Amino acid sequence: MKFYVRTYGCQMNVEDSNEMGRHLKAKGLVETQNPDEASVFLVNTCTVRQHAEDRAFSELGRLKRWKAKGPGRKIVVTGCAAERTKEYLEDRFPFLDLVVGAKSIEDFPRMAERLLDRRDTDEELDYAVRAVDDKVAAFVTIMRGCNYSCTYCIVPSVRGREIYHSVEQILSEARERVREGAREITLLGQTVNSYRSGTARFADLLKAVATVEGVERVRFMSPHPYYMTDRVIETVAAVPQICESIHLPVQSGSNTMLKQMMRNYTREQYVLIIEKLRKAMPGTTLSTDIIVGFPGETDRDFRETLALIEEIQFDWGFIFKYSAREGTPAANLECLPQELIEERHQECLALMDRFAQEKRSRMAGATHEVLVEADNMGRTRTNYKVYITGNVAPGEEVRVRITNAQRPTLEGVIEDGNITFENFREESRSACTNRGQ
Ligand code: 5AD
Ligand code: SF4
Repeated sequence: MKFYVRTYGCQMNVEDSNEMGRHLKAKGLVETQNPDEASVFLVNTCTVRQHAEDRAFSELGRLKRWKAKGPGRKIVVTGCAAERTKEYLEDRFPFLDLVVGAKSIEDFPRMAERLLDRRDTDEELDYAVRAVDDKVAAFVTIMRGCNYSCTYCIVPSVRGREIYHSVEQILSEARERVREGAREITLLGQTVNSYRSGTARFADLLKAVATVEGVERVRFMSPHPYYMTDRVIETVAAVPQICESIHLPVQSGSNTMLKQMMRNYTREQYVLIIEKLRKAMPGTTLSTDIIVGFPGETDRDFRETLALIEEIQFDWGFIFKYSAREGTPAANLECLPQELIEERHQECLALMDRFAQEKRSRMAGATHEVLVEADNMGRTRTNYKVYITGNVAPGEEVRVRITNAQRPTLEGVIEDGNITFENFREESRSACTNRGQ
C-alpha cells in the first residue's frame, strides 16, 4: 500500500509531513511520488495567508476524481487550514476520510491507525518494508505552537501555545536522522530560540545538538528577534558546527507598524542585533521576512521598511503581501487598497532583489565548502544552493569554486585537494595540534 504527500506552507509543515510519513511507513506503507499509484493521499495544508489556503482547497476539489478512480482510496487532510476550518472542510468535501488539525498532530498515529484499519485489503501491508530516508539535510522540530500574538498572524490560534520537546528527545531524533544519512540538522520552531526545557535554554540545546556524533552542520529556523540574546549570539559564533546564515524575520522597518503588529522590538533593537551577529560571525548571510501593506501602513512607514533593507543589505528576503486572516486582531482593521499593496510589494521585491544579486555576484570566483545533498546539488555554510560540476556523492563535503553567481542557484566546480569529512577532520586536527605546539 502506498501513500502520496502534498505539503503546503512553511518548513514546519514539511517536517510535520515527514513525521506523519514516518508513522505511515512504520505501519508498513511505502511513499510514492506518483499519486496514481497511491492508496492514501495526504494533503498537509497551510493557512498563514489566504492564497495558501485557497491552493490547498482547490487541490481537495480535484481529489474527488482521484478518489473515484481507485476503490479504497483514502484522503487525509492535516495542518493549519484543517485546524481552522475542520467543519467547513468536512461539509464542502464530504469525500474526505480524515481531517486532523495542526494541534492534533501528536494524535496522528492513532487516528491514522483507525483509518487504515478500515482499509479494504490488508495483504500488502504485511510484507512492505520500512523505507529509510537518506536525507543529508534533515529537520528536527524542537517545539510546537507560538506564545506570541502578532496581530496579523493565525499561527497561535491554529497551532496553540508553545510546547517543547525535551532535550533528550531532540538529541535522540537527531541521532536517528544521522543514522538515516543526515549530516546537517536544522532545528525548527515557530519562534525557535524561545525554546526552554527544564533549565536548558536554546543556547544549551544548540551546543548539545552540535556534539551529536556525525552532525557536521547545525541551522535553526525561525528565530524571533526578542530571543536573540547575547548568549545565543555568542553560542552561534562559538560553536563551529553552527552555519553562518541567519534568517531573522523583521516584518517592518517602521516602529509604528512594529507596535501595531505587536512584534515586541523596535527597529533600533533589530539593527543592533544584526550588528552583533555580523561582528560575532563575520561573513554570515542574513535574510528576513517582510510584510507590506499591513492596515494603516502609510507611505512613510513603507519608506522606513525600504530604508531598513538599504541599511542592512540583507542577502535575501521574503516579501509578503498582507493577507487578513479571520480571527486575528488585525482582521478588524481596514485594509489598504489591493493595488497599493501590490505596488509596494513590487517595489520592495525589486529592492531586496537588487541587494541579493549584488551580494551573490561577490561569490563568483570564491571557494566554499559545499555539503552535497542530492545528485549534484549542495549548499554552502552560508546557505547558498550550488549546482556542482564533477563527481560527487550525497553526504560528501567538497570544496567548490563558484563559477556562476547570476541566478539564485549558484554554479561551481570542484577544486583540487578535495575534502571529505574524514580528511577534513584530519586537516583540522593537525591544524589544532600545530597551533598547540
Ligand atoms: N499576511 C502576510 N504575511 C504573513 N506572514 C504571517 N502572517 C501573515 C499574514 N497574515 C508572514 C510573516 C512570517 C511568514 C512566515 O509569513 O512574514 O514571518
Ligand atoms: Fe506568528 Fe508572530 Fe508567532 Fe511568528 S512570532 S508565528 S509571526 S504570532
